[in-house]
Amino acid sequence: MEIIEFEITEATEEDLDAIYDVDKKAFSYPMSRSSIERDLRDRRLSKYFVARLLPFNEVVGYIGLWCIFPEAHIVSIAVDPDYQGKGIGNKLLQQALAWLVNSGFKHVFLEVRVDNEVAINLYDKHGFEKVSVRKNYYQDGSDAFVMVKDLTKKEEQ
Ligand SMILES: CC(C)(COP(=O)(O)OP(=O)(O)OC[C@H]1O[C@@H](n2cnc3c(N)ncnc32)[C@H](O)[C@@H]1OP(=O)(O)O)[C@@H](O)C(=O)NCCC(=O)NCCS
Repeated sequence: MEIIEFEITEATEEDLDAIYDVDKKAFSYPMSRSSIERDLRDRRLSKYFVARLLPFNEVVGYIGLWCIFPEAHIVSIAVDPDYQGKGIGNKLLQQALAWLVNSGFKHVFLEVRVDNEVAINLYDKHGFEKVSVRKNYYQDGSDAFVMVKDLTKKEEQ
């Protein structure tokens, strides 16, 4: 497997186009540019991290959170398909969860397509549990699992 080096940093408004490009490549139904822009501009209620490929800092992945203390919601996580399967999604989620724990958040929620095996594996691995199903959640009529992680529980070593 090709070894790549990347770092995770907090996103700024300057990352808008790069995040939108990753989203368009990774999803059939990407988020709107304006909703990403709103989140990056008003960071009182949202927090995004990006994965930057070294040495040129090209953005190849991101995770977006909405933060209504003490609950948080993972709005989206995506990695450029050319760089998937190389540990970037893991690191993005790990960094976001560490930030939430350090900031005192109690729970984090997300929705995921019921057939998105890769993402469900990723969330399982990080201690999320399925709590319910939202019927017809996506534009194409697909259902979503709601998954939650209790951030107050000590991680098993
Ligand atoms: C989901 C996504 C963010 C994962 O990012 P990634 O960089 O490819 O993932 P990683 O290489 O860090 O792997 C993380 C975990 O995902 C799971 N995973 C990754 N690739 C997988 C595959 N081909 N099959 C099954 N599980 C897989 C594994 O649990 C893996 O952990 P492991 O390597 O310890 O086994 C990425 O695949 C993606 O952008 N998908 C399209 C967008 C999307 O569906 N986002 C989620 C919306 S809810």
